[in-house]
Amino acid sequence: MTRSRTCSRRARASGLMGVVLLAVAACAHPQSEVPYVWTPDDVAAHMLRLAEVTPSDVVYDLGSGDGRIVLIAARQFDARGVGIEIEPRLVAESRESARKLKVEDRVQFIQKSFFDVDVSPATVVTLYLGRELNLRLRPKLQRELRKGSRIVSHEFDMGDWKPDKMITVPGKDKAYRLMLWTVR
Ligand SMILES: C[S@@+](CC[C@H](N)C(=O)[O-])C[C@H]1O[C@@H](n2cnc3c(N)ncnc32)[C@H](O)[C@@H]1O
Repeated sequence: MTRSRTCSRRARASGLMGVVLLAVAACAHPQSEVPYVWTPDDVAAHMLRLAEVTPSDVVYDLGSGDGRIVLIAARQFDARGVGIEIEPRLVAESRESARKLKVEDRVQFIQKSFFDVDVSPATVVTLYLGRELNLRLRPKLQRELRKGSRIVSHEFDMGDWKPDKMITVPGKDKAYRLMLWTVR
């Protein structure tokens, strides 16, 4: 039996939301180390404002989910963007949204692990991953990003890299913590 058929049967059989969520996590791409949870659009816009994104920026979202941060960077900030996402379904959805929003010329979605993609063209990197993954990404970011590049993380810190700025964005049900680092 194929993996996807096993997954859909598992999801159908689940009566409780918690069980469904577990089934979704179990169906995630084997290389994915965090489940897909989106950043609300207004919070994504705050992330890009925190990084002071302009039309000359190239925004890389590592683990881009449905592509929203990259799409908002292109639509609202006139920037160029690259989303790197391991899950093929989410990459297909991102590309379809880019087509519908007519920003295909400014965005690109790559279906790969972000550990396997050169991020040196980025001037801004956005993250919503988890502390442990942030820590594992640190050496790569330090090696590949140019001086002056900005990193913005939703929720999770970078260990002993102290953020240059931290803000809290109030939401309907919770407050969102955003942190900014500038590569030196
Ligand atoms: C918490 S979601 C964040 C989605 C999006 N950045 C946002 O803020 O709306 C994390 C995403 O990272 C993806 N992911 C996990 N490990 C990955 C990896 N090694 N390479 C690329 N994407 C990965 C997951 O599939 C998931 O879509």
